[in-house]
Amino acid sequence: MTSIFDPLRVGPLALPNRIIMAPMTRSRADANGVPQDMVADYYAQRADCGLILSEAIYVSDMAKGYVRTPGLANDAQVAGWKQVTDAVRVKGGRMFAQLFHTGRVAMPDFLPGGAQPVAPSAIAINGKNWTDAGQKPHVVPRALETDEIAGVAAEFASAARRAMEAGFDGVEIHAASGYLIHQFLDASINTRTDIYGGSVENRSRFLLLVADLVADAIGRERVGLKLSPRIKFNDVQDPDAEAIYPYIAQQLSGRGIAYLHGAKQGGYEVHALLRPLFKGLYLAGAGFDRTSGDVLLESGGADAIVFGKPYIANPDLVNRMRLGQALAEADGATIYGGGAKGYVDYPTAD
Ligand SMILES: Cc1cc2nc3c(=O)[nH]c(=O)nc-3n(C[C@H](O)[C@H](O)[C@H](O)COP(=O)(O)O)c2cc1C
Repeated sequence: MTSIFDPLRVGPLALPNRIIMAPMTRSRADANGVPQDMVADYYAQRADCGLILSEAIYVSDMAKGYVRTPGLANDAQVAGWKQVTDAVRVKGGRMFAQLFHTGRVAMPDFLPGGAQPVAPSAIAINGKNWTDAGQKPHVVPRALETDEIAGVAAEFASAARRAMEAGFDGVEIHAASGYLIHQFLDASINTRTDIYGGSVENRSRFLLLVADLVADAIGRERVGLKLSPRIKFNDVQDPDAEAIYPYIAQQLSGRGIAYLHGAKQGGYEVHALLRPLFKGLYLAGAGFDRTSGDVLLESGGADAIVFGKPYIANPDLVNRMRLGQALAEADGATIYGGGAKGYVDYPTAD
């Protein structure tokens, strides 16, 4: 019987259990994208899980997509994260940095000199984003020039190097949730006619380039990647998900990265379809509880289970699940932004 309480090896790491903390944006960085002191407490409180995946961290100044989110784009941000990874390590934990570029989700308000956000094509998201001046409609992004794209991919590798400097154990490439990498995959968002658009191979090229550069930078055994096909977020459509995602899983399998993380947040059977195609570890996320997690592990449908929302109000989720204790509900008002309240003050069950 495999259960979420069994140990697991991920690259060079020995995980004491198969409970993974999902990457969750909580918007507690300062205006310069440096995590505030309480961020270290928050993650350290949850360090008894098998592996912590950090909230999404922007790789460069052009990659920032939300107010009060953190970066790994400069030395001050590295120093801020070092406090976090030190605190997690003191508690015996392990932590990967999730790296993203938000592409067309960004707002000129967050970008250097009020720059126009960049994306595969000049197609705006139909909706609004929060800025310090309230909600504003998304803007039409500038389509990246073909010869700029490798440089943007290289920003992920630079940020991955900074992540290692900051004491992380590895990085998760965020290719989900309609951010830049996902924008390249989705044929309804990427209408390019160069080598980065059109066919499945071409739309996957940016993702695979990022994976290769990051693996070269820090070692493939310290690299994971997250996908969320057809997620209902950021205008994602993924019209040919059945063609492109299996191709990506096979390509990543050949590259020998540590794990593939699938989140089932849209109408695509990500775990059943991708797990058999990827030879490394498969982390399954979205909508799990202890029982459904154990059922999937026992059937061989995943190697570890990723828990998101349950982690917000249950810092001691591992123990609560082990003891069968009730889970606390999160306060919706304090999820994004604010201070310690609703962040580091959720009590343990005992
Ligand atoms: C508050 C919140 C913030 C999130 N931020 C991120 C993020 O930064 N990166 C990411 O990949 N997913 C993010 N997600 C998605 C989660 O990682 C996870 O895939 C999703 O919540 C489904 O899992 P769950 O049902 O266990 O919550 C976020 C989810 C929540 C609830």
